[in-house]
Amino acid sequence: MDLDEALKARKSVRAFKADPVPLSLVNEILELARHSPSGTNIQPWKVHVVAGDVRRQLEAEVLAHRDTKPADAVAEFPRTSKRKEPYTTRMRTLGKAMYGLIGIPKGDEAANWRQWGRNYQFFDAPVGLIFTIDKDLDAMSFLDIGIFMQSIMLAAKSRGLDTCSQGAWNNFWTVTRRVLSVPDDEYIICGMSLGYADETSPVNTLVAEREPVASFATFHGFE
Ligand SMILES: Cc1cc2nc3c(=O)[nH]c(=O)nc-3n(C[C@H](O)[C@H](O)[C@H](O)COP(=O)(O)O)c2cc1C
Repeated sequence: MDLDEALKARKSVRAFKADPVPLSLVNEILELARHSPSGTNIQPWKVHVVAGDVRRQLEAEVLAHRDTKPADAVAEFPRTSKRKEPYTTRMRTLGKAMYGLIGIPKGDEAANWRQWGRNYQFFDAPVGLIFTIDKDLDAMSFLDIGIFMQSIMLAAKSRGLDTCSQGAWNNFWTVTRRVLSVPDDEYIICGMSLGYADETSPVNTLVAEREPVASFATFHGFE
């Protein structure tokens, strides 16, 4: 798969098959992703790769903790849930399409809660990635990690694997910190599911539409 194809074929997968992903393949992907650029080459990414018993422990403990409605149900670093247009509409369009495919009616809070909880099961993917960053780095380093994550997603896609980035993992960070021994001076900023897509699952038919170039690009100085 060439780069253009991988860019177009990558999509967030939210139902995975149980087929294991060998460590050698995960390493191959990380070997490629480490070539990602970063501001002043500080390479701020750190990633915990979880599988097997640790992945199961993380899932069980985070889900149990989540049911207690704890204080760490928000990220440890500043985030906002306030969105203005056009972002609100885009977000709602995605949510409506996704919950429609899963068959969750609007307003069914219990079903929403259960479905969002699937994030903490890595949507059944055999491998989960948890990205952390030193707390004393700034927004530019968050950009670096986003670039690193896209490298992972594209390398995975070109090897027949699928992914889903999961900001959901920046919640319930006390448990993730303890289970994975993440130092106190690092934020848990994102997670990612990695595995083989269950192509029979309706949720994986979701297409998140994109805006045309003209809606976001402003060209200057061209003849
Ligand atoms: C930083 C980031 C965080 C995300 N967090 C979640 C998440 O917690 N749960 C989820 O189901 N999808 C999550 N997504 C997936 C987005 O919803 C998805 O990328 C977007 O709708 C575009 O769809 P596509 O990835 O299929 O092209 C996240 C994506 C990114 C880039």
